[in-house]
Amino acid sequence: MSAGPGNPANAPVLEIRGLCVDYGRGATATRAVIDADLTLHRGEVLGLAGESGSGKSTLAYGATRLLRQPGIITGGRVLFRPSAESPDFAIDILDASPQTLRGLRWRDVAIVFQSAMNSLNPVLSVQAQLTDTVAAHLPQSTKSERREHAAGLLKLVGISEDRLRSFPHELSGGMKQRVMIALALALDPQVVIMDEPTTALDVVTQRQIVEQVIRLREELGFSVLFITHDLSLLIEMADVIAIMYAGRIVESAPAQRLFRAPRHPYTAALLDSFPSLHGKPKMLAGIPGSPPDMRNLPPGCPFAPRCRYALPRCVEQYPAITSPAIASAARRLVACWLHEERELPAGLAVPEPDDETGTPVPVVPGSSGGAR
Ligand SMILES: Nc1ncnc2c1ncn2[C@@H]1O[C@H](COP(=O)(O)OP(=O)(O)OP(=O)(O)O)[C@@H](O)[C@H]1O
Ligand code: SF4
Ligand SMILES: [Mg+2]
Repeated sequence: MSAGPGNPANAPVLEIRGLCVDYGRGATATRAVIDADLTLHRGEVLGLAGESGSGKSTLAYGATRLLRQPGIITGGRVLFRPSAESPDFAIDILDASPQTLRGLRWRDVAIVFQSAMNSLNPVLSVQAQLTDTVAAHLPQSTKSERREHAAGLLKLVGISEDRLRSFPHELSGGMKQRVMIALALALDPQVVIMDEPTTALDVVTQRQIVEQVIRLREELGFSVLFITHDLSLLIEMADVIAIMYAGRIVESAPAQRLFRAPRHPYTAALLDSFPSLHGKPKMLAGIPGSPPDMRNLPPGCPFAPRCRYALPRCVEQYPAITSPAIASAARRLVACWLHEERELPAGLAVPEPDDETGTPVPVVPGSSGGAR
């Protein structure tokens, strides 16, 4: 996994700031994404997890301005920083002209959509779909260059060149998904957003594709925003994980820290509902209740009706996302009132190892509010 920030090569490449997306307008609008902040660093895999309907896909489509009606971006900025050498230069995707956006999408920021394998054109061969993408963005390339590039891309995702002539119906689900990944990589993008790229596949193929994404990321150096509801998959592959609940990012942290020491009750409950690939076998516990109606969100913490630790203030006011009260809080953020209490519940007070020394860092509650 890649190193964190500090080195310019690991500086932010995509920053989502205060993104808000609604479906519809007025009192009946669905508030699908609320004030979301996310930072993707160069060469890093940022995982985004949360239950179905929490707003993960909407965040990705909003950030790339690919939302369909009735989706409306009601606020925020999405800063793409194209050059590691000039880290202060940024393009705000939400403010970019249609021309800038056309150039930027696919060439700089590529997307593998949810159920992407069904979005291959059924009447075009794999070769035609790959070469069309290259031709649209690199019109000066020759026919033979495009074919060669298409063959190279297929090879990159583990498919033999002789499949270039195949049509989508002649490929397995896993192969179609790999072709979609090849399409996303066609123009050597800096950022690849993958929205549930393996959900429809069996676990063996799922694992092969995830391993391939990790290998390609190392080989080609792109950054990945990987969206899934499978938190256990992210713990394996992501550098940093953000957890979404009812349209908001409720916790984010380096993957192993989040896994070992979750600080938000929802993250802890999500971890308890997945079998762990590491450590001792454990009893799985579901999360009682169901997510709130996003058309009618409560004023306080929307997790309160399902939260075993809820306090009276939780139903009145939503907690801001801040660094939790632990000494080594680098890149840790949490939105939960418990972190302002004198004592944290035992399940959320697990010491985590310090990055430098490896010694456990004690939790000192009641002093949260560090910089983002
Ligand atoms: N076209 C639409 N019109 C109205 N509401 C929508 C539309 N698309 C999504 N929503 C609502 O927005 C919210 C977020 O949906 P979204 O698809 O972003 O969730 P998700 O986290 O990606 O879920 P999943 O894991 O099932 O893909 C949900 O409440 C959903 O019902
Ligand atoms: S803010 Fe309150 S209800 Fe929400 S997760 Fe924290 S303790 Fe639970
Ligand atoms: Mg989705």
